[in-house]
Amino acid sequence: MIAENLIAKMQTVKALLSGARSLVVLTGAGVSAESGVPTFRGTDGLWEEYRPEDLARPEAFSRDPELIWRFYNWRRELVGRCEPNPAHLALAALERQAPEMLLVTQNVDGLHQRAGNRNVLELHGSLWRLQCTVCTYEEENRTDLPPLPACPRCNNLLRPGVVWFGEQLPAGVLSTVLDTVAKADVMLVAGTSSVVQPAASLAHVAKRSGAVTIEVNLEPTHNTGFMDFALHGRAGEILPQLVEGI
Ligand code: OAD
Repeated sequence: MIAENLIAKMQTVKALLSGARSLVVLTGAGVSAESGVPTFRGTDGLWEEYRPEDLARPEAFSRDPELIWRFYNWRRELVGRCEPNPAHLALAALERQAPEMLLVTQNVDGLHQRAGNRNVLELHGSLWRLQCTVCTYEEENRTDLPPLPACPRCNNLLRPGVVWFGEQLPAGVLSTVLDTVAKADVMLVAGTSSVVQPAASLAHVAKRSGAVTIEVNLEPTHNTGFMDFALHGRAGEILPQLVEGI
């Protein structure tokens, strides 16, 4: 009976995804977990003796930029060895059949783009972008970096092009996301604990605007209760099944 209910739920979600006129997908670290990228929360979310939440702060960078660069260089090196997994590939296949789909990600690893998604908005920036702490210089850079990389334009310190706690999201990104979410008829949320704002509120905005909301996550989250559909399990198993044959 339980298995039949699950199959029926999967079929309904599949029909919703294939029939969506305006589809928004929000992803988090759980979508990259099966590629070998550690998630933030839980026992795997630790680096040396630090919690990522304590390192992803502008004050931490001002206090000890070398420590923070060591953390980001470790993540760049780790992610550089990772490949997109079946969850990423399923979302790239979904975009091919629904070209107007917007994929909003909290991930900074670039794996959605590597899997083939074109319409991606990175809410929290990218590990592969560097920004000057003083001038407006920015660059995409995938090479090994020195312990304290310097701006080629003004020689001041470069920082990772990611959004830290207490910082604003990149200009224009949030308004674009909110506009698109408010017009969506289906919103799929995958692999996020839904505790970090504003990403955690996007499904509420979608639902208030009339969208059907779907969650795919290893375990229930803060948002599971109000989702129209919640499917619990590995994103790399569930997403390919939802997208197959669409
Ligand atoms: P979290 O680490 O908070 O949550 C990851 C979620 O993915 C958890 O609910 C896990 O249960 C789930 N999960 C793990 N493996 C999975 C799998 N194979 N399939 C499906 N789900 C799986 O990551 P985020 O919600 O993305 O921000 O974290 C949000 C933000 O907090 C990050 O972008 C980062 C962090 O601090 C900044 O750095 C600004």
